[in-house]
Amino acid sequence: MPAGEACAGGSYVLGMRWIHDLPRLHALSVAEQERVFGRTKADSVEFSDDEMPPDAHVARTDRERNGVKQKLYRRSAPIGSVDAHGLYFLAFSCDPSRFEFLLESMYGVDGGPTDRLLQFSKPTTGSLFFAPSADELSALIR
Ligand code: HEM
Repeated sequence: MPAGEACAGGSYVLGMRWIHDLPRLHALSVAEQERVFGRTKADSVEFSDDEMPPDAHVARTDRERNGVKQKLYRRSAPIGSVDAHGLYFLAFSCDPSRFEFLLESMYGVDGGPTDRLLQFSKPTTGSLFFAPSADELSALIR
């Protein structure tokens, strides 16, 4: 949260467990996998506006709302077991409605195309938290 506001320095946190269908993704050529995300695979260079498919993950998540870019601070981690592989998606924002806006964009709720990533990965859990600032937490135990 911005300085001067209640809970300044804290952050809303979205955690989601996604399970991938990797065989389905890997059945695509590398060029086609890159079109799913909108970035090159080897060096993660974002496609230009001309190259970007409208249903690419980056196209559905690099969004602006009321003149404000809906950026998130993302710290996801790969997860895996013998029978399942996926991603623990972890993102932080000053505004919880940003998560909802981006998820709606991915699912085409806003009338846009559905994120092609959803053909290869599915969320199995989702939780929303508020993480207070370190100063606020310290004040609680003083
Ligand atoms: C299986 C789940 C997901 C995977 C594998 C995934 C993967 C990626 C990849 C590879 C990128 C581009 C490289 C990068 O900037 O790190 C990216 C960007 C991004 N993703 Fe995801 N993502 C997933 C879920 C989500 C969800 C659920 C959201 C939103 C709630 C989200 C929001 C974003 C945003 C905001 C960007 C940056 C777009 C930009 O401004 O360039 N992602 N993601």
